[in-house]
Amino acid sequence: MPASADVLRRTGGKPVKSIIYDEATIAARVRELGAEITAAYPDGHLLVLGLLKGSFIFLSDLVRQIERPLQVDFLVASSYGSARVSSGDVRLLYDPETELEGKHILLVEDIIDSGRTMNRLVSLLAERRPRSLAICALLDKQVAPDPPSELRFTGFLAPPAFLVGYGLDHAENYRHLPFIADLE
Ligand code: IMP
Ligand code: MG
Repeated sequence: MPASADVLRRTGGKPVKSIIYDEATIAARVRELGAEITAAYPDGHLLVLGLLKGSFIFLSDLVRQIERPLQVDFLVASSYGSARVSSGDVRLLYDPETELEGKHILLVEDIIDSGRTMNRLVSLLAERRPRSLAICALLDKQVAPDPPSELRFTGFLAPPAFLVGYGLDHAENYRHLPFIADLE
């Protein structure tokens, strides 16, 4: 566990409520996920697609634990505010350069909350006729009323709190924390 002085240096003096997953716990789980993913894709072309920005640290650690050939690309999605389009609508701001057709697509996300973001992205990507489409989420709050059926790899079943660190933000802050903390 990091000492509180170390946490406060990184947050600019704002305390976190508690550290939910420390660095060693995350690293151990990411190694296990890498082994699961390696075993799950014995053949074919694997494209690991990270949803920015939240997945950037998780993805970079995860791909180094996958012991098979793969390629990496990213997606940037944005939810419209309710004033413009119905909530839950997800727009792609950056679309992967790579062809998806015929490839195994592993969509990497930081956290599943309502499940709307992933459900929407899955239907967008499925139109491009990948060979398979699966989701790897570091965290799942398990509150999604209609969880995506493509969710195949989950790091941790997370508590129903607002979590930051290891890529997860609050108003763009805290992404750089090497652990995952409950902010409230
Ligand atoms: P969903 O569409 O409701 O499943 O929300 C998923 C998105 O909301 C994720 O990509 C995160 O960016 C964000 N999110 C949900 N819960 C948290 C949290 O506890 N901390 C930080 N971001 C979160
Ligand atoms: Mg976010």
